[in-house]
Amino acid sequence: MAAVVRVPDILAKKQQGEPITMLTTYDFNMARLLDAAGVDMLLVGDSLGMVVLGYRNTVPVTLDDMVHHSAAVARGVEHALVVADMPFGTCHSGPDDAMRAASRLVQEGGAAAVKIEGGHQITDVVARLTDGGIPVMAHVGLRPQSVHQIGGFRRQARTPSEAELLLHDVKALADAGAFSVVLEAIPHYVAAEATQAAPIPTIGIGAGPHCDGQVLVSYDVLGLYDRAVPKFAKQYADLGHQVTLAAKQFVDEVTAGQFPPPPHQPS
Ligand code: KIV
Repeated sequence: MAAVVRVPDILAKKQQGEPITMLTTYDFNMARLLDAAGVDMLLVGDSLGMVVLGYRNTVPVTLDDMVHHSAAVARGVEHALVVADMPFGTCHSGPDDAMRAASRLVQEGGAAAVKIEGGHQITDVVARLTDGGIPVMAHVGLRPQSVHQIGGFRRQARTPSEAELLLHDVKALADAGAFSVVLEAIPHYVAAEATQAAPIPTIGIGAGPHCDGQVLVSYDVLGLYDRAVPKFAKQYADLGHQVTLAAKQFVDEVTAGQFPPPPHQPS
């Protein structure tokens, strides 16, 4: 097994021009399987709310949900850096509240870092957590927790003024101490400019090939979720279909009296 990944290793990868990989995960066993693949970071994303808990968006996910799932993931990981999402409502009532929430994710949830959606508005929170010893991954562009404000899961930074604001946000977040930043659903040329300008690694999702790293939702990668899959996601396996086939075979065999097999008769 490769060495444990730590925050300075992620920064070093940018400096050395080595691509960074991150996948989401939400439970112990999947964390073990994905960790064994050698992924650099495992994100306990609040996409948990959609792919595991069945909500239509990430807004209903609570801090208790995140702590519970992060702890399960942390128990399964030996190599990757575990990053846990700060869920809706935990960062915008001030740095002290954010520090309390982040501390739970690190102390009880076993995360090594937290991810926060937001731009220049949250630099005080980023600075407070970083000063308190909690590494912060920022998240700009499409911020799914703002779905009600944006009016859907829409691509961002499409006008020159929006792109300018995003570049300004990335700089402000890096200055505040963020160790990396997720760029979600923005034009590839904006992501390229942010990546070139930022002293910290950019991790893209639907942001083109010029980021320092890439992240995807593991349920999209594995074909385990077919509600609202973004166009930019790549499906590498069709496990959802395999699961239904296996379960159907079980149902058929039990119904037909083929499983369990008859006990061995002593001869
Ligand atoms: O919650 C999540 O899965 C995320 C990724 C889309 C980056 O934030």
